[in-house]
Amino acid sequence: MTSPVVERRTPRLLLRGFVHDDRSAFAAMNADPAVMEHYPAPLSRDQSDAFVDRVRATWAEHGYGLWAVERHDTATFIGYVGLWPVPADVPVRARRDPCAEVGWRLAAAHWGNGFATEAAAQALQLARTLGLSEVVSFTAATNDRSQAVMRRLGMTHDPRDDFDHPAIPPGHVLRRHVLYRWMPQPGSGPATPAPWTPAPPA
Ligand SMILES: CC(C)(COP(=O)(O)OP(=O)(O)OC[C@H]1O[C@@H](n2cnc3c(N)ncnc32)[C@H](O)[C@@H]1OP(=O)(O)O)[C@@H](O)C(=O)NCCC(=O)NCCS
Repeated sequence: MTSPVVERRTPRLLLRGFVHDDRSAFAAMNADPAVMEHYPAPLSRDQSDAFVDRVRATWAEHGYGLWAVERHDTATFIGYVGLWPVPADVPVRARRDPCAEVGWRLAAAHWGNGFATEAAAQALQLARTLGLSEVVSFTAATNDRSQAVMRRLGMTHDPRDDFDHPAIPPGHVLRRHVLYRWMPQPGSGPATPAPWTPAPPA
């Protein structure tokens, strides 16, 4: 059977389906408290492996899903980026259907290189190709790095869309979530982020 995963290449990254050899690096990333700071808890090895199984099933069911992200220069797995169905228990009101979520998680050693934004721009392009009407992204209000990726992608934020995550108890620091939106049509911002230029020396 042919794989349902739509592969993509960017200047620095290969976006591909998960393979068995990714599982240990994926589990190490999901167990890292720094990576999982804005989630309720790190994942165990079993939880991490079950996540890979769900990623595969999602590609087969929806024709989109999370990519395993591999660097061309080192040929190493560095995390995931991609599209995901909006979970039914999350109070996100899609303005347009069909709608998907764009998300990302990279091992901490690979932050600060623009890799998440470079890969996520491909996810937005895929959403456009698939004819999705809207892409959303949400994260804990504390997660500044993730919100910066959303803004670099040209996603927009209306504070009236923010919500309390039903799976996180009242009073918990991660309960408040922010929601960003992007619509694959003219006027909604670029799916290709503006070229990056290093900040001048202070
Ligand atoms: C969220 C996350 C993916 C963001 O990663 P990131 O590396 O900060 O984001 P980007 O890939 O867009 O990289 C942007 C940074 O790379 C820098 N950069 C360096 N070289 C670059 C280049 N060639 N091109 C673009 N940016 C570059 C940018 O200046 C920016 O740096 P800054 O953080 O100092 O402003 C990462 O922090 C993560 O995996 N967190 C844990 C999981 C998580 O919280 N996921 C989201 C939950 S919803």
